[in-house]
Amino acid sequence: MRRLRFGLFENAQANDSGTATWRHPDNQRVRFDELAYWRDLARLCEDARLDFLFLADAWGWADVNGERPEICSVEGLDLPRLDPAVVAAALMSQTEQLGLVMTGSILTEQPYAFARRMASLDQLSGGRIGWNVVTTGTAETAVQAFGVPMVAHDERYRMADDFMELVYKLWEGAWEPDALVKDKAGVFADPSKVHRIAHEGPYFRSHGYGNTAYSPQGTPVLFQAGASPAGRAFGGKHGECMFIGAGSVAQLAEHTRAIRAEAVASGRPADAVKIMSAFACVVGKTTTDAQRKYQRVLDAQSPEVAVASYAWFTGLDLSSYEPDTPMTELHTELSQTQVARFAGLTVGDVLKDWHAHGVGAKPVVGTPEEIADRMCELAEGADLDGFLLSPVIQPGSTQDFVEHVLPILRERGVAGTEYEGATLRERLLGTGSATLPAEHPAAAHRPAALRRAA
Ligand SMILES: Cc1cc2nc3c(=O)[nH]c(=O)nc-3n(C[C@H](O)[C@H](O)[C@H](O)COP(=O)(O)O)c2cc1C
Repeated sequence: MRRLRFGLFENAQANDSGTATWRHPDNQRVRFDELAYWRDLARLCEDARLDFLFLADAWGWADVNGERPEICSVEGLDLPRLDPAVVAAALMSQTEQLGLVMTGSILTEQPYAFARRMASLDQLSGGRIGWNVVTTGTAETAVQAFGVPMVAHDERYRMADDFMELVYKLWEGAWEPDALVKDKAGVFADPSKVHRIAHEGPYFRSHGYGNTAYSPQGTPVLFQAGASPAGRAFGGKHGECMFIGAGSVAQLAEHTRAIRAEAVASGRPADAVKIMSAFACVVGKTTTDAQRKYQRVLDAQSPEVAVASYAWFTGLDLSSYEPDTPMTELHTELSQTQVARFAGLTVGDVLKDWHAHGVGAKPVVGTPEEIADRMCELAEGADLDGFLLSPVIQPGSTQDFVEHVLPILRERGVAGTEYEGATLRERLLGTGSATLPAEHPAAAHRPAALRRAA
């Protein structure tokens, strides 16, 4: 079996993924607004040689019939949060090698300013930055907050294509990698290697010069997690690493086949996209001990959270439907994945499921050996490249994984003990290069001389 990659899913807010476990006595995530929480967690990840810490993000809030339910404030559900770019910037100075991946939305960011922010992070971190490109599943309230028009689901992906083309021009085409000479007896930057860019797209426009020089990775490592047909096509074209939700071997295998087929359809090798599945676990000395531990997590949260949280992801108020309504009767222009994945179930089933783990992965509850066995079975059976660890409570879930499960995976030769390569791209993609390969669509925006040399 191949060597697996590991990232840790985080979110700069008190709760996560539609659950509300902040009251659990051991949950330290409630300290999300303290630098010390993030520093200790990032060091835990780095000491364990996890490849990256991922900072998810979302705009907007839960909305049920035009109001944010009171329960959201009472349970700290959707707000408040911190800006992931600021957390990433703080953490790069607390770590030396850990990759830092953050979500950024094409619906709310301005490409010219966003390109500079990401290049600055990549520059100062020495090439440790990744960007999870999202089109914002929670768009309904996000567009209210930003005062921009609502954009329908598939159109948001067309908008994303345009956004990408412009940021590729800025990251790959504006400054050649060796443009910055800094020779006090000569030139600061070689004028022949600083280029004017022009972009007149259907959604975004920019003319002129890039605001940042070429960073260690040029383009940050591109992550994507869309699971709708439009999302998968986008991921197959642009993504270097795809996150997929948790599931059975058969469900995950279907996802990986579809994503690799999309990469091939875009003229890229099938393994150009690394696929990481969300994975949650609750570790115990015995299976019963682990189940007891998980029950304490479930008991810590109110069932009302599920209604508000599901509405945030989909705009749908499940409390307004009869519990036996089939999910196939519901439609959304927000996250279609969160409706489609429950085909065959009823509204009542979904509310129960959502209470247990929200949008996140259903935890595997058991001994370290049982959990390691399940990870190996999933990775091998579904052709996965790694896992995005989704903590149930923090930092307990991460500590349990690092102390008890990771050593078993290392013994089996599927988890590494050292970082290989200086940049995040070298480590995750294993191509021996810090920058994107020639077959990636971003490479078409490199200056002609560089394309010929490649
Ligand atoms: C592991 C994982 C992490 C995700 N992180 C985010 C995130 O940080 N922000 C976000 O808006 N969506 C996130 N998503 C959701 C997807 O990016 C995507 O927006 C959502 O599935 C809706 O798009 P779709 O209808 O194409 O699937 C995540 C999904 C998965 C599986």
